[in-house]
Amino acid sequence: MSEPQNLRFTDLHPSMGDSRAEILAGLAADRKSVNPKWFYDERGSELFDAITRLPEYYPTRTEKKILSDNAAAIGERCAENCILLEPGSGSCEKVRLLLDAVRPAAYVPVDISAGFLRAAAVDLAAEYPWLAIEAVCADFNRDWSFVESLPAGRRMVFYPGSTIGNLEPDSARQFLEQIRDVVGNGGGAIVGVDLHKSGDILHAAYNDGAGVTAEFNLNVLSRLNSLMDAAFDPGRFRHEAFYNEQARRVEMHLVSAEQQTVRVNGTYVDFDRDETLHTENSYKYTIDDFTDLAASAGLVLEQTWTDAEQLFSVHYLTTA
Ligand code: SAH
Ligand code: AVI
Repeated sequence: MSEPQNLRFTDLHPSMGDSRAEILAGLAADRKSVNPKWFYDERGSELFDAITRLPEYYPTRTEKKILSDNAAAIGERCAENCILLEPGSGSCEKVRLLLDAVRPAAYVPVDISAGFLRAAAVDLAAEYPWLAIEAVCADFNRDWSFVESLPAGRRMVFYPGSTIGNLEPDSARQFLEQIRDVVGNGGGAIVGVDLHKSGDILHAAYNDGAGVTAEFNLNVLSRLNSLMDAAFDPGRFRHEAFYNEQARRVEMHLVSAEQQTVRVNGTYVDFDRDETLHTENSYKYTIDDFTDLAASAGLVLEQTWTDAEQLFSVHYLTTA
């Protein structure tokens, strides 16, 4: 496929390397788990996109309204001609709300889902012919080597969607440290964070009536089948999601409907009936907790925007 003039696509092949050993270790542990980054193949990205349009899934529409209501103020925080990086860019929909206000010299969407990223970047390039797009398929928890070949300029990171909530608090701090190092002195970050709230709202958001979140969750088994030469039967597992109030996180699991043994990468994994495979945590923060997390990573929270119901928050962080 030939790229539009204003788009360069680099694939750092994030599903290679020692990922297989890591996945096997998660399946062999007493409490089985898999990293949520494996949700996102083409199908997983499409399902997440469908989730963002569900009536129960308030985060996307709430954050989009915060961004569009405050685009001018956010634009003032980002120097014109900055290099705007978005880790976990997905459909690149939210950045459209900021591009006219920010007018970056280059936009760098980074995502693990190669085909989906390329298609999103191609659409964006056609819609914004003035914008130079440097799309990178990479695992943002492992590989930031691509920043070395970016054009010079003040760097800003745009990290919406509360994707930070899918990281364990310690990894979230390390991720923010990475952002601090990438943007350096004079740089900044715009980070979207879902807020702690009533368990009922959260329960509904991760247990939608149409069953899209269940399909998204179960799709990780098909992903494991192709990545790990495994034989998971999604029909023998069911979706479970609940708010763990004490840990302030929504947990997603896949519950084994029966006692079963599954072939994975030449070995065998046993599941008891009702044993779960923990597939995702989605941490919810208070503004104070997030301020402290940012401070622990050497970032200063300069400004916060929220919606009237305080469901979601968008923060401007600097290194100074
Ligand atoms: N920013 C968009 C999409 C959020 S969904 C929004 O706010 O709606 C999370 C995105 O992060 C997905 O597109 C997923 O493919 C990507 N992602 C998750 N883990 C990743 C990782 N380790 N490295 C790179 N991208 C990742
Ligand atoms: C991408 N991430 C912030 C979503 C979330 O809400 O944790 C992924 C998701 N999982 C279930 N629904 C949406």
